[in-house]
Amino acid sequence: MRLSEITVPDQPWTRRSFSPEFNRGRQWLTEEFKSVGLNVSTDTAGNLIGRLNGSAKKNLPIMIGSHSDTVPFGGRFDGILGVLSGLEAIQTLKENGALPAHDIELVDFLAEEPSEFGLSCIGSKAMAGKLESEQLDLTDGNGRKLGDAIRSVGGDPELLHQASRGANSIVAYLEIHIEQATRLESAGLSIGVVTDIAAIRRENIRVVGRADHAGATPMGLRKDALVTAAYLISATEELTEAANASVAAIVATIGKLSVSPNAANAVPGEVEFTLEVRSGDDAKLKAHTDGLLKRYRDIAQSREQAVHVQQVSCGTSTKSAAKVMRAIETASQNEGLQTMQLSSGAGHDAVYVSHLGPAGMIFVPCRDGRSHTPEEWVDEVGCARGAQVLLGALLELDKE
Ligand code: GLV
Ligand code: MN
Ligand code: MN
Repeated sequence: MRLSEITVPDQPWTRRSFSPEFNRGRQWLTEEFKSVGLNVSTDTAGNLIGRLNGSAKKNLPIMIGSHSDTVPFGGRFDGILGVLSGLEAIQTLKENGALPAHDIELVDFLAEEPSEFGLSCIGSKAMAGKLESEQLDLTDGNGRKLGDAIRSVGGDPELLHQASRGANSIVAYLEIHIEQATRLESAGLSIGVVTDIAAIRRENIRVVGRADHAGATPMGLRKDALVTAAYLISATEELTEAANASVAAIVATIGKLSVSPNAANAVPGEVEFTLEVRSGDDAKLKAHTDGLLKRYRDIAQSREQAVHVQQVSCGTSTKSAAKVMRAIETASQNEGLQTMQLSSGAGHDAVYVSHLGPAGMIFVPCRDGRSHTPEEWVDEVGCARGAQVLLGALLELDKE
């Protein structure tokens, strides 16, 4: 609750990456990390890292973490729960004089949510060596470059490679997160063991019509880009609903849109929006998105307008590591908690950290499955059970 209160005051709970609130949140986290004796640093990609030295001078660390940024008007648990449960687990180990054999790294990954630069999972991408140097030139609405924004949180875009870690560089990665859906709640269970995380593809779509006077241009002479965009959006829903009738789950969303000139008395000349498509099946994600884009072009052409498509990102689905899933299941059993295996439609830093070594996730139920909204909620018992299982799983993995 203390961290979530660091929000844009009239937009609870908003702590966008690279914003003043985000930096204040990081200052608060830094103090909390230090108060349990962690060595705190920021890597060149802008990830905040707290390190606890293990007792046995083992080579590889166990990594735990999540993110402290939020979507606009987001919740108080998405991401935050993972960072602070990790801190709680480490504090408990220290209070009990039970130093783990391995070093533990607790990471607040930079900008997990789609940032003002259009990109998500910036910190974990960079850690996996997958943040491309051209992406550092992406700009936000104010013309600021991503590279400069990374510098503003203590990173160094020129030395980004130093943040990148190779394959087999961790013993394991554990992330606890709210489920953001209702399967656990419906089943009355408190722990979900994530089997896989859906792939996300994002495309920037620009519809170009012609701006004109709204009073003087007859209906038959218009090239209204917003009406065309409305047809594209409607086709997206229609085709994606049809795809779910016969194949594995696939979802498509248009959640961000800008209209130009955006005036009550002007025919919209240009519309830009983001198409986001997700599926656990990489081949279906490709086929479905390609199909949508073809339909977009057909619709725009039939209305004598242009549609320009630029890919923002395209990931692949991620399977959890069996050993991490086993550690979570064993820890849950030890607590007398029944588990359920489930897949994640939401994206997580674990997708990129899985390139460093075995990764897995613990889900806890959130009320009514609501997330990315201010109503997002988990009660204390739910948080405590999740943190207890995180600690248990950490100790299981430390036995290696
Ligand atoms: C992260 O919240 C996502 O977009 O799945
Ligand atoms: Mn989120
Ligand atoms: Mn999240």
